[in-house]
Amino acid sequence: MGRRKLVVGNWKMNGLRAQLPEVEAIGALAAERPVVEVGLCLPATLIMAASQVKGGAFVGAQDCHMKDNGAHTGCLSAAMLAEAGASWTIVGHSERRQDQGETDADIAAKALAARAAGLKVILCVGESLDVRDAGGAEDVVSAQLLASLPEGAAADWLAIAYEPIWAIGTGRIPTMEAVEAMHKALRAALASRIGAGEANAMRILYGGSMNGENAAELMAIEDVDGGLVGGASLTATKFAPVIAAA
Ligand code: G3H
Repeated sequence: MGRRKLVVGNWKMNGLRAQLPEVEAIGALAAERPVVEVGLCLPATLIMAASQVKGGAFVGAQDCHMKDNGAHTGCLSAAMLAEAGASWTIVGHSERRQDQGETDADIAAKALAARAAGLKVILCVGESLDVRDAGGAEDVVSAQLLASLPEGAAADWLAIAYEPIWAIGTGRIPTMEAVEAMHKALRAALASRIGAGEANAMRILYGGSMNGENAAELMAIEDVDGGLVGGASLTATKFAPVIAAA
């Protein structure tokens, strides 16, 4: 397929300047393994300092506003994040869909705003435990993906992250068969919208309790093109085996 693996740490609301040595150490790990694209999506307060740290990992944001500027207290535009040193941003993480009530349309608009500012985008989708237990999660998440997908979606600026909500931070992961079925379904959904060639080039990451123990098995699945990693990305020691597994 030729898709370069993409392994991204999402530090969520963790990290002060005291953790910059971890950023540097993770950058060094990335530089040692150029076959894998490695990045860290950091709290906005660390982006500028982290982007000045030498190493092989890109620095990204965890969200951006959909507007260029205006009366949106506490928000950050994609251009602000790019100016601070971000080259990627996450949009549509389930924690923001839940906590901030972000809709699929919001997320598509945020992705377009990010692209306009020159940021690459990781767009997150995933099902709740109720949906998983009810069956048909592939249909639900495929529909969520298509509703969140921005106009002009293309593999050179957009990646997808499948994150079952019930697997995030819980230590639980789906069976390998379930991950395989979901990623296959998501690629088919992408193909229906952007064509098979572009869909085959687009990276689909798995996220949710990925760690050094399970990363190799998860990333060996044909349509799993990397990982979006929370807790196991917070230190170089924990992140190293995930990067090595990709
Ligand atoms: O963005 C990352 C995911 O939400 C996964 O987090 O690896 O801590 O489960 P986790």
